Amino acid sequence: MARKLAVIGAGLMGSGIAQVAAQAGWEVVLRDVTDEALRRGTDSIRTSYDKFVAKGKLAAEEADAALARITATSDLEAVADADVVVEAVFEKLEVKHEIFRALDKLVKDGAILASNTSAIPITKIAAVTERPERVVGTHFFSPVPMMQLCELVRGYKTSDETLATAREFAESTGKTCIVVNRDVAGFVTTRLISALVVEAAKLYESGVATAEDIDLACKLGFGHAMGPLATADLTGVDILLHATGNIYTESQDEKFAPPELMRRMVDAGDIGRKSGQGFYKH
Ligand SMILES: NC(=O)c1ccc[n+]([C@@H]2O[C@H](COP(=O)([O-])OP(=O)(O)OC[C@H]3O[C@@H](n4cnc5c(N)ncnc54)[C@H](O)[C@@H]3O)[C@@H](O)[C@H]2O)c1
Repeated sequence: MARKLAVIGAGLMGSGIAQVAAQAGWEVVLRDVTDEALRRGTDSIRTSYDKFVAKGKLAAEEADAALARITATSDLEAVADADVVVEAVFEKLEVKHEIFRALDKLVKDGAILASNTSAIPITKIAAVTERPERVVGTHFFSPVPMMQLCELVRGYKTSDETLATAREFAESTGKTCIVVNRDVAGFVTTRLISALVVEAAKLYESGVATAEDIDLACKLGFGHAMGPLATADLTGVDILLHATGNIYTESQDEKFAPPELMRRMVDAGDIGRKSGQGFYKH
């Protein structure tokens, strides 16, 4: 019998996770709070499957079968018999706490509860449940159907068995996992990109090199697909300022102290591609 996955939140990440899991044969319950959000989520899944079919990467019948395995609902009770639950709602601890409290009461005992958080310590999320050993981070990357990585995060009390189940789930969707053994702020990936962006912004701020040359150094010197300042513009200077500020607060490690330039850019609204101006004009 197919195993059952519940995804909480049908936004960018939740719909992507539902998409790859359904394609891998999981029965998926996709839960959001409004019909509008559910429609947007399922529409984006359909559009994405259509693109894979048009490119000849997925058979039309497989896409239809995968779509049929997804049930979109606003009823939280529908997740009760899931084997794996992945939460992908807004990056706010209070919102995640409310959901994990409810899931803990509702979902069957053997199930694992995963969060797709990009930076909130898993231990903080797990603390409101009676099963912190069964709570784990499954950090997928955007766009989920294209990106190969899933960063698995062990909370302070996460069991080996839970980590193994999370790995099995992520690998079943075609992803490759890395394991974050200690629940540090920003995990491995957000720490790495934050350190690189902070140093790149400091070099730029102090006039050591132009934005173009700093990015070229990473592209041509290290083979990065995109330079750190172009990445900051794509992700949003505001998002990275927030992420690196959080890591700095938690770790008190000076290398994550956001440069003043990033604060002023955010104050001025120059947050990157979203606003038309960041380190570059778009
Ligand atoms: N966007 C990214 O590139 C990215 C990458 C990796 C991880 N993440 C993380 O994934 C999570 C989701 O991010 P996103 O970009 O998909 O957000 P999003 O804003 O696209 O979607 C969030 C969804 O959660 C829904 N929601 C809110 N409260 C809910 C509730 N109580 N029950 C069910 N649904 C609820 C909202 O209606 C919305 O549809 C966040 O923790 C984020 O940090 C995001």
